[in-house]
Amino acid sequence: MVPVKFGIIGCGMAARFHLMAFKKVPDAKVKFVAAHDINEKAVKRFARAHKLEPHVKLEDMLQSDIDAVLISVPHYLHESITVAAAKAGKHVLCEKPMASTLEGCDEMISATKKAGVKFMIAENHRFLPAHVYMKELIDKDFIGEIFLARTYEGAFDEPENFLNPDIWNFTYEKGGGGVAMDQGVHKFGLLNWFLGEIDLAQCWLGKSYDSPPNKGEDNAMMFVRYKCGAMAEITVSSTSIHPPMNSTELHGTKGSLFEDHSLDEPVRVFSSHPEAEKKGQYYRPSIQHAPFPKYYIISAFHEDAHFAECILNDKEPEFTPEQAKEAVAGVLLCYLSAKNGRPTKMDELKKLAKTEGTKEILKGLPDVTQQNHEKLKWTWA
Ligand SMILES: NC(=O)c1ccc[n+]([C@@H]2O[C@H](COP(=O)([O-])OP(=O)(O)OC[C@H]3O[C@@H](n4cnc5c(N)ncnc54)[C@H](O)[C@@H]3O)[C@@H](O)[C@H]2O)c1
Repeated sequence: MVPVKFGIIGCGMAARFHLMAFKKVPDAKVKFVAAHDINEKAVKRFARAHKLEPHVKLEDMLQSDIDAVLISVPHYLHESITVAAAKAGKHVLCEKPMASTLEGCDEMISATKKAGVKFMIAENHRFLPAHVYMKELIDKDFIGEIFLARTYEGAFDEPENFLNPDIWNFTYEKGGGGVAMDQGVHKFGLLNWFLGEIDLAQCWLGKSYDSPPNKGEDNAMMFVRYKCGAMAEITVSSTSIHPPMNSTELHGTKGSLFEDHSLDEPVRVFSSHPEAEKKGQYYRPSIQHAPFPKYYIISAFHEDAHFAECILNDKEPEFTPEQAKEAVAGVLLCYLSAKNGRPTKMDELKKLAKTEGTKEILKGLPDVTQQNHEKLKWTWA
């Protein structure tokens, strides 16, 4: 089956990143061969530009001889398209977040298991070399037991994406919420890998734009306590005005790690471990990296190549569907805590999933999202 033949579903921004990842450095295991989009013009244009077979109908592409699909459509469609692709016997690589509810995640996990196909959520933060390096140092005990973590993403988004109610991004209905669901889910995918299971969370949601009621928060602060005892602060903003920045700090009993995607050398280590390059001094190890937008391409390359390797060698993906579901659970727990107006335990969310269902969480969320736009005067054109 080498190379694994992928069909792309949804020919937007994320799809372009995946294609670009293999343009400069082809990988023998991955080949994008076909594309489908609901927008006929878009798929024809995209297919022509990238030399792919265009499919106006999804069923036609699913019946073709592709081995796998890359799903890069608005969030509310992840579940139904994953189920359809699995039923057609195609391996599924689906963009984040897995789904907007835990019930949706379960449906996707069960459909792909039943069909016996490989399934992975395209969480590029799990494949970014800087993050992989940090995980290696944690596992080698370079920073000891982690007690504190801080992580921030500030990626100024087009105001149109928040202000136009007809654009799917950041809507409750099609996006599953605002920036916490869209960007925060990356942070849970990453921090859960470093710190394990979440115990409880408290969250503040804010709108700095005067966006329509169907749009979620454009800023969020989430405070999380992990079962290991570590405390984490996760802050995400779609309105902070600076070039895209994405950083994570970890502090442990033997040292600290500082990471920032916006730098050429993204990781700074301070460790007392005997194998540290410079014991008891800061150092910046050499790591494959380039600031935005190139780090997307680097991480998508490793991610897609890993998924193809799992298909070819019948291995389970390193980022498991269960871990992807827990990343969604982290966001939903924060939403629930914002609604509760108090720290909320993960057990409470899991109980809700078994009773009323987590789809209930989005209802009433606009009422607890702080409207902080009235006093703000935007001057950036
Ligand atoms: N990993 C990352 O850092 C990253 C970055 C950007 C986007 N994403 C994710 O990628 C996914 C897509 O986001 P995007 O920014 O590319 O969105 P987009 O709006 O740019 O593109 C989505 C595409 O899906 C198409 N589409 C809509 N409904 C469809 C349907 N029923 N069937 C087929 N195609 C349909 C649209 O016509 C559009 O071309 C989302 O899950 C998003 O969160 C991830």
